Amino acid sequence: MKDKIEQIWSEAQKDIEQIKSCADVVEIRNKYLSKKSELSTLSIALNQLPPEQKREFGQALGKVKGAISEKLEVLNKKLAEEELNKKLQSEQIDITLPGRFNTCGAKNPYYIVKDEIVDIFLRMGFEVAEGPEVETDRYNFELLNIPKDHPSRDMQDTFYLEDSLLMRTQTSAIQARFMEQKKGQPFKMICPGKTYRRDDDDATHSHQFSQVEGLVVDKGINMAHLKATLELFVKKMFGEKRSIRLRSSFFPFTEPSVEIDISCAACGGKGCSMCKGTGYIEILGGGMVHPNVLRMNGYDPDVYSGFAFGLGTERVALLRYGIDDIRKLFNNDVRFLHQFKKRV
Ligand code: DAH
Repeated sequence: MKDKIEQIWSEAQKDIEQIKSCADVVEIRNKYLSKKSELSTLSIALNQLPPEQKREFGQALGKVKGAISEKLEVLNKKLAEEELNKKLQSEQIDITLPGRFNTCGAKNPYYIVKDEIVDIFLRMGFEVAEGPEVETDRYNFELLNIPKDHPSRDMQDTFYLEDSLLMRTQTSAIQARFMEQKKGQPFKMICPGKTYRRDDDDATHSHQFSQVEGLVVDKGINMAHLKATLELFVKKMFGEKRSIRLRSSFFPFTEPSVEIDISCAACGGKGCSMCKGTGYIEILGGGMVHPNVLRMNGYDPDVYSGFAFGLGTERVALLRYGIDDIRKLFNNDVRFLHQFKKRV
């Protein structure tokens, strides 16, 4: 037994000399001090010996175990410190280097303007409606008094998914949807949304653009309500000094129809290159809801009347910020977008 204990001790010493890391310490501790180690097996065997020998070998065993444990403890402490230092060294950062900055995006001016438009009308008591961008011929045209053979359809060619399923050409499609929902009740609604047309893209045209539709239906609504509402909108959007001008126009779903211009910001109405000498810039279309449209959508035109309008949201953004090309709103060039970043 004595020889065996000595043999283990000398083997353990050799093993301990080879230790290079804390992981090695764990391995060697398991080898010599765990329940499955040779020393533990010997401790169990001790019980079979007479008391005299039991004490002698017991002491020897305890001494070896203690010595191994102590050596491992010292080594572990030293190695742990070395390993930590090495890690700190390798992960050292130079705090004098300038930091890396993340570039943060900015809100597209289209969204700035759209949110402002919605805000202005919400404050006037309008509710906000939504509708699908893929629309049926019925809502996009028919219920707006634009039957299949109507020539005004020519100006609104679009992308067709099926014969009578299309990418909506105007947010006016929501007029019919909304009246259907309201079931003859009066209301004031606006609907901002994307619209599509088959168009060749250039500085002022885009096959995808956006509109904000407005529709008010109640008893006794007349042109004065339309004018006052849009005048207030223009002043809130473009400034108190702006005035509006109504010109007669044509839309199949309004009668009478008007085109609304705002006084030119560059010349104040005198006429300049911005407004092509007219003093005014066109921003939206509108009019009194056509009796056919009211009737087709469940409102008696002898009892109810209404006004409607539609504006091109990008156009408002271009005018508001003096942007010269509509495509800049869609290209997501951060150099462009950053110009509209709110300074804090
Ligand atoms: N939907 C028309 C367009 O896209 C704009 C418009 C004009 C909407 C007059 C209206 C309106 O609601 O009354 O050209």
